[in-house]
Parts: sequence; structure tokens; C-alpha cells
Amino acid sequence: MSTWTPLYVMFFTFMVAMFFVQFLLCWRSVRAVLRLRLRRRWSRLLSGGICAFFAGMAAPSGLQAVGVSVFTLLPASISEPYRTLFLVWMVSSSLSFLILVTSDTLGWVARHARAWLRPRGRLRAAAPSRAPVAVNPSRRQFLQVMSFGAVALPIGLTTYGAVWGRSRLEVVRRDIVIDKLPAALDGLTIGQMSDIHAGTFMSWREINDYAVVLQEMKPDLITLTGDFVTRKQYQLTTCLDALQVLQAPLGIFACLGNHEFWAGIDQRMAGEFAQGGVRLLVNESVHVERNGARLAVLGIADAWTGRIDWQSTLTAVAPETPKLLLAHIPDVFPTAGRYGIDLTLSGHYHGGQLKLPSGRVGLTPAMLVSKYIAGHYRLDGARRGPQLYVNRGLGTTGVPVRLNARPEITLLTLRARPA
Ligand SMILES: [Fe+2]
Repeated sequence: MSTWTPLYVMFFTFMVAMFFVQFLLCWRSVRAVLRLRLRRRWSRLLSGGICAFFAGMAAPSGLQAVGVSVFTLLPASISEPYRTLFLVWMVSSSLSFLILVTSDTLGWVARHARAWLRPRGRLRAAAPSRAPVAVNPSRRQFLQVMSFGAVALPIGLTTYGAVWGRSRLEVVRRDIVIDKLPAALDGLTIGQMSDIHAGTFMSWREINDYAVVLQEMKPDLITLTGDFVTRKQYQLTTCLDALQVLQAPLGIFACLGNHEFWAGIDQRMAGEFAQGGVRLLVNESVHVERNGARLAVLGIADAWTGRIDWQSTLTAVAPETPKLLLAHIPDVFPTAGRYGIDLTLSGHYHGGQLKLPSGRVGLTPAMLVSKYIAGHYRLDGARRGPQLYVNRGLGTTGVPVRLNARPEITLLTLRARPA
């Protein structure tokens, strides 16, 4: 990104903000150390260590803001663990910062509210005093515990999300009633994996283990809804190789995601997918048949590419044929519904990846950009008509952490609507 596009301005602002978050947290930490009144040598050593750590964590953000990637300058053996530490620390320190700012703001409001509510007459009557203000030891202890909690809680949460939350697989089984589904297709099972993100935080072994879980359910048809890789083309080979255990009587079908687009993987690499036994669908369709009834399986280009072609996707499909669409980004759902797609399978948002528990859905930044984060949807809450299922995916992007958004493998069973 070399020009001042809106996206670059947002990126630049974010990186500068992250840099200053580190600077402010460093200042608060050093101040806390100085208040401990340790021996001078220990105090200097501890403060110096804290400054060095924060400098190491702030450097990638500060330099990235001016277009320099620290990680590409270092050998892989150093850059990969450094990147992991940096990403995990960015999440936990940002949360710490938010908690500290919130508690500081609440404290400031409480102090001013107390002063404002104090009876004016008593204030006037009180004689001005230069005596030192007595510090309530229990209040100081409380503040120290709060400060410790503000740092420890986010670190604990991100460690949990990186170690356990990221790998606690959930197998979701769900029946989907399709209007006008022929009785011959009733009970057809569809396995779905999405957002594998092969790379540093998703090894061949992990992908293979997930594939074995899906294969053991013996689905009639398998769908892979994009984001096979994280950043690099070569990760596709690892991913497809680890998926070799998959087999389905009606076939394995895939669409591409935005990470394939960013890694330069496109339709021209359909041969690589075919070698792995996967039929890649980009603006095209195929038909599968069971007990003499046909189901159309369609796949579109990823929405990021701006190359979705509904006409060529649908051209070979008869209107009365039930249609299953693979579309990485679920936001095409209303358009797919207008084109008569019965069921759209998507991924992309990783179920929010980092989600605060709140109500049935939870709170996640992904909600700012989409209303289709995870699970089953119908158009405008209708009881019939087009449906969407959004898989939470298996891998991670950005930070290798999942909170309240467990990795998912889905087994959908198509059901005919009872007469
Ligand atoms: Fe993804």
C-alpha cells in the first residue's frame, strides 16, 4: 500500500494507535514499578526490561505504519515466534488498555460526581487545611488489585483463546428442510469445512485430524468454502495434501475465499485442486444425482475479486432443480436468494473469532460489517424460501486466538418438506 487510499489511511491510523497503546501501557507499567519502592538497582533493571519488551512489541506496528515489515527482515526461525508473540500481545494489551481507560474514566467520573454532590454549605464551613490527605489503605489495595486484573485478565483470556479456544472443535449437525426437495434427496448429508487457513497456526497434522473427523461422519457430499491458505500460495499444497483422506460418493466441491485471492490463487489452479480430488467451482455449476434425482452444486468467485458472474453460474441449471451454492462470503445471500438458490453455504467471519458473550449471538467486531456471522439464516426471517448456513471455520486470521467462537465442522442433512 503506497498511496493514501481510504484503506491505507485506516491501516496507518490503526498501526499508529497500536504503537501509542504500547507506549502508554509501558509508561503505566514503569510508573507501577517505581511505586513499589524497590532497591534502585532492581527498580532500574525491572523498568529497563519492561521498556525493552514494549519497544519490541511496538516496533512492528510503528514500522508497518511507514511500510516496513519487521518480520520479513528477520530469518523465519525468529520471525515466526516473534510474530506469534506480537499478535497475541496486541490482542491482550489492547484489551488491557481498554479496561484501564474504562476504569480510569469511571474513577474520574465518580470523583467529580462525589465533589459535585457534596453539600455546598458544609464545604464553605470547612476550614482550609494544608494537612496531608489520609490515604485509605483498603482503597489503595483495591486499586492495585484492579490494575493487576486489568493486565492479567486479557492475558489469561488470550492465552486461553490461543491454546484451547483455537482447537476446541465443535461438530454441528443440523437438518435443513428444503422446499420442493425431491423425496429421493431426502436424508442427503453434506459435510462442510471452511476457513482452514493453512499456515503457521494450522499445520498439516491439524488439517488432517479435522479431515479425519469429517470423513468419519461419511457425508454423501463434501463442501469446502474457501480460505484454504493464510497468505502464501504454497500453503495450498499443504492443505490439499492433508485433505487427501476425504472421500464422498457424490464428490468434494470447493469455492475460493478472499485469502486465495490475496495469495494469487485463482481459477487457473483448478488442476491442483483436481489432483487433490476436489472440484473447484468458480462461477460454474455441476449436477450430482442420487436415486434418480438431481441437485445442482454451484460455486461463485469470491466477492472480494468483484468477479461474481451469476449468469454463467446459473446458465446450465434448470429453475426447478434444487440448488446448493458455495460462496465464501455470506453477504451474497440476499442476491443468491433472488436468483432462486435454495441453500447457500459460507464461512469467512470465523464466527466472529473474538466474541464477548452477550445474548444468543454474542458481541464481535464482525457484527459491524455483516449480519451473517455464524449459523443458520433465512431471508428477512421468512419461514420458507432461501436459506444460508455460515460455518465458523477451523483456522484463524490476524491473531491466532478464538474466544467464544469454536472451530466448526458441519454436517447438514437435507430434508424434504412434509406434504
Ligand atoms: Fe477466513
